[in-house]
Amino acid sequence: MRVLHLSDVHVTERYSALPWRKLGWRRWLALLELGPGGRAQAYAEAGCVLGAIAEDAERLGAAHVVVSGDLTAYALDAEFAAARKALGSRADDPARCTVVPGNHDTFTPGSLRSARFERHFGQLLASDLEGTAGEGPYPFVRLLGEEAAVVGLLSARVPRFPGLAHGWLGRPQLEALRRVVADPRLERRAILVAVHHAPRTPRGRPDRRSHGLLDANALLDALRGPRFAILHGHIHRPHHQPSDGVLPHLFGAGSSTERGREGYWCIELADGIVRGAEWRRPTPAP
Ligand SMILES: [Fe+2]
Ligand SMILES: [Fe+2]
Repeated sequence: MRVLHLSDVHVTERYSALPWRKLGWRRWLALLELGPGGRAQAYAEAGCVLGAIAEDAERLGAAHVVVSGDLTAYALDAEFAAARKALGSRADDPARCTVVPGNHDTFTPGSLRSARFERHFGQLLASDLEGTAGEGPYPFVRLLGEEAAVVGLLSARVPRFPGLAHGWLGRPQLEALRRVVADPRLERRAILVAVHHAPRTPRGRPDRRSHGLLDANALLDALRGPRFAILHGHIHRPHHQPSDGVLPHLFGAGSSTERGREGYWCIELADGIVRGAEWRRPTPAP
């Protein structure tokens, strides 16, 4: 079975064309990284690249696509809509697509209050197993055939101040995750856990406190062994740390649509474990 993992697609509106009074002070500050910081340019083609990856998923016969958050630049409704459109019919079908939010998708209190992420991707948050949730719909479980499952977690929180980008799961989700992992219905399945924040950097170290997953150790403790893989984003550099037999596989999908660094993981699963993985570049549009 083949699963594609992509992340941090950051579909970005043309902010210079928007009425700035409506953007709010958090986005005003963010405009500094968008314009002078070069971010708007880096993601100018993000929607098209996401569309190309969605087409690759069909061409490669992927059973499932996992997007581990940061679909938007700063959680605008139009950015969510464009990301969903670029994903195509996959985004309508929980059997073929899993999406969890990133910190950019909960960038303002208003985006959280109005459940903007859920309005566009809520159809993918239902669980195939009853009673798995610990916080809102998370963790939810998606059964893939007879040999794998995806578990979706929420680590994205509204930052107290733009620039702070850490996240956490919290006790209710972690306790629910431990129950999910012990569920006999998931025995013998490879379990892919989709979460936005990285439990470790590509160098194998905890991320810095203002950017990392605060309860990373508890997450790693809950997922011990090569049957588990954590599929994360947030750090815009792709990496794969294979399981050493104790820790799970760690897949970071970088930023799949960032100009010059486009790509995604193509993960092969067989007999309830990860058999291999290849980092692929999106097929260019003709
Ligand atoms: Fe990101
Ligand atoms: Fe992020």
